[in-house]
Amino acid sequence: MEKIKVFACPTAEEFTQEICDYLKIEPGKINSIKFKNDNNFVQILETVREQDVYIIQTCMPPINERIMELLITIDAVKRASAKNINVVLPYFPYSRSDKKDQPRIPITAKLMAQIIEAAGATRVITCDLHNPAIQAYFNINCDRLTGEFVLEKYFMDKKIDDMVIIATDAGSAKKAYKYSKFFNCPIALVDKRRDANDDKAKSTTVIGDVKGKNTIIFDDEISTGGTLMETVNILDKFGAKNIYAAATHGILVGDAIERIKNSPIKELVVTNTVPVPEEKRIDKIKVLSIAPTFAEAIKRINEERAVGEIFTIDFFENN
Ligand code: R5P
Repeated sequence: MEKIKVFACPTAEEFTQEICDYLKIEPGKINSIKFKNDNNFVQILETVREQDVYIIQTCMPPINERIMELLITIDAVKRASAKNINVVLPYFPYSRSDKKDQPRIPITAKLMAQIIEAAGATRVITCDLHNPAIQAYFNINCDRLTGEFVLEKYFMDKKIDDMVIIATDAGSAKKAYKYSKFFNCPIALVDKRRDANDDKAKSTTVIGDVKGKNTIIFDDEISTGGTLMETVNILDKFGAKNIYAAATHGILVGDAIERIKNSPIKELVVTNTVPVPEEKRIDKIKVLSIAPTFAEAIKRINEERAVGEIFTIDFFENN
């Protein structure tokens, strides 16, 4: 690989190191600090002139802080004359604010796309967007990777029988159907509603047979764990045998850990698109690394090769 530099924003150091280990390069030298007046400062400590630069930012709370760190880093890299500024955002901030479905509300995901682009990014690489249409909020290239294969491979290796894939709401039915095709098993749909703008969701019934079955709930993200708990409780009520859950983004805020610990859930599997600190890594939570997927995408973009080839389970089985 030629003329490539990979820089970590402050909370993304571990993820960046994993990417760099895969690429067999050292992370770029960068100094990110915060002054006493709350202003952030970034200095790139090596030349990036005419280079292919990748800035990695993992959006763990506080999210707004992460956004400023990213924007300032993009600006520093732009003013240092990088050729390409590729922003790697394994979890896209504000992705749940993706449409104007009520009067006088913002579409913050679109605003995010606009400010990242305005700051100087020439490409964004992200993963499992809450709404795939967010890709189109950018005028620059936006590559959307997926945690699907990492999660599928994990459950495939577990060799679970009598399996049913659970869709947490009507919106996730399409995705659940895809997983059910992969595992060659049925799906069941939970009726979930969210009436207000808070984090509370209500599940009322299960459509499909889960009695005595090994159920796996697939979702894009687990944030407060509200949706997950509603789903787990209803599956338990309807007689599911074992309840597994999987999500690309383990945000795990608020009471999520406590709720998971005290629930009938057998195992929750997430990837590290959002760093999961040690204190959140309870026995029931398994964290899989998605950094190799990002590293392979970076390698292929840098070498001007197809990224689409990594969108197959074969790739994950053989690497
Ligand atoms: C909802 O549409 C999403 O797919 C997730 O179910 C939701 O974002 C999870 O949030 P929480 O864990 O706070 O219920």
